[in-house]
Amino acid sequence: MKAKFLFFVASMFFVSPVLSEPQLEKGKEIYNGKGACASCHGIEGKADGPAAVALNPKPENFHEGDYSLDTDGDGKKGTKADIENIILNGAAKYGGSMMMAARADLTAEERSALAKYVLSLKKK
Ligand code: HEC
Repeated sequence: MKAKFLFFVASMFFVSPVLSEPQLEKGKEIYNGKGACASCHGIEGKADGPAAVALNPKPENFHEGDYSLDTDGDGKKGTKADIENIILNGAAKYGGSMMMAARADLTAEERSALAKYVLSLKKK
């Protein structure tokens, strides 16, 4: 009984790094699905989605890790917090394009998963 409990506790430590993967999967699903992010930002984040041709300015190239907005004034652009803010409030609030519309319909959890996924698109 006691051994079973210890095994349970130990397994939590081993399992937790793996648990972040489903979040990436979820982010991907929203990016390509109901978030419709890929229509402008492209499947790989290269700003080459079908709707991107009509956009001026063009969306940032996530694949190049090329970000231009610092939403929380920490001096760094394109942090996870910045991306979550942009999804929640839209880019116009931070001096960016109004084409990057606010998606307040997504939950905080969905925004977090999306931000993680967007950051993972940067080429290694
Ligand atoms: C209608 C086209 C369109 C759609 C759909 C769209 N975006 Fe954007 N996005 C843009 C444009 C254009 C910009 C550039 C804004 C600027 O810098 O002025 C942008 C900028 C961004 C940025 C800011 C990068 C930086 O400069 O720091 C992030 C992050 C982002 N989009 C994420 C997303 C996510 C996630 C989704 C899906 C929920 C999404 N976008 C959907 C057009 C779009």
